[in-house]
Amino acid sequence: MKWLTLLSLALALVVAGLVIAEEHRDDSAPDGLRPGGTLSQSLPAPPLAGEPRDAGREVLNYPEQPPVIPHGIRDYQVDARANRCLTCHSRSEAVQAGAPMVSISHFRDRHQQVLAAVSPDRYFCTQCHVPQTDASPIVPNTFLTVDEVLGDMLRERRDGGGQ
Ligand code: HEC
Ligand code: HEC
Repeated sequence: MKWLTLLSLALALVVAGLVIAEEHRDDSAPDGLRPGGTLSQSLPAPPLAGEPRDAGREVLNYPEQPPVIPHGIRDYQVDARANRCLTCHSRSEAVQAGAPMVSISHFRDRHQQVLAAVSPDRYFCTQCHVPQTDASPIVPNTFLTVDEVLGDMLRERRDGGGQ
């Protein structure tokens, strides 16, 4: 008789588990890249961000920012054999291509030693440079440029000093 009790207990547990699982199956999903929906729903992916605008080079937000790429880079090969970016941005090709040359920092290795060619740690350009898109920020952005921060500080100091 003991086994029967155990069996029914186990069965009861399984049923309870199923009921609980059923209850929780359609919780609302966390709002990530595809906001809304429930855990069991597959919402369609949002459309890909638009191609780079023809806005030209963007102003940097701070001096050490890697500039965003003002042109498309679809199918540009960058691997051990070839680097498409350097066919326009290398020291020898830049003038001909009408492209800005990679800056001097790209010739320094991690020990600040200046090399003859682009340093291996700057070889995979898209590690740092991304194309411009018309994507709207996923999360609100409260970034202030250094000029805005300095302007705010000066204004505060002036207002504070005048009292
Ligand atoms: C066919 C030539 C060509 C190729 C290939 C090319 N670029 Fe460019 N790139 C340009 C030109 C020309 C500009 C300047 C555009 C302008 O002034 O509006 C530019 C601008 C840029 C800038 C902006 C620099 C700044 O100071 O604002 C970045 C960054 C850049 N390219 C990165 C890349 C990367 C990374 C690749 C490879 C994935 C690449 N480019 C491949 C021609 C090229
Ligand atoms: C480790 C990050 C990193 C990688 C990798 C990298 N860059 Fe940059 N790049 C930067 C930063 C940061 C700047 C701006 C500050 C500076 O000039 O060093 C910059 C500046 C530039 C500029 C603007 C130069 C100017 O004088 O206005 C160009 C063009 C550029 N990079 C192209 C490339 C190309 C092409 C590659 C790949 C061969 C590449 N970068 C790889 C970080 C990187």
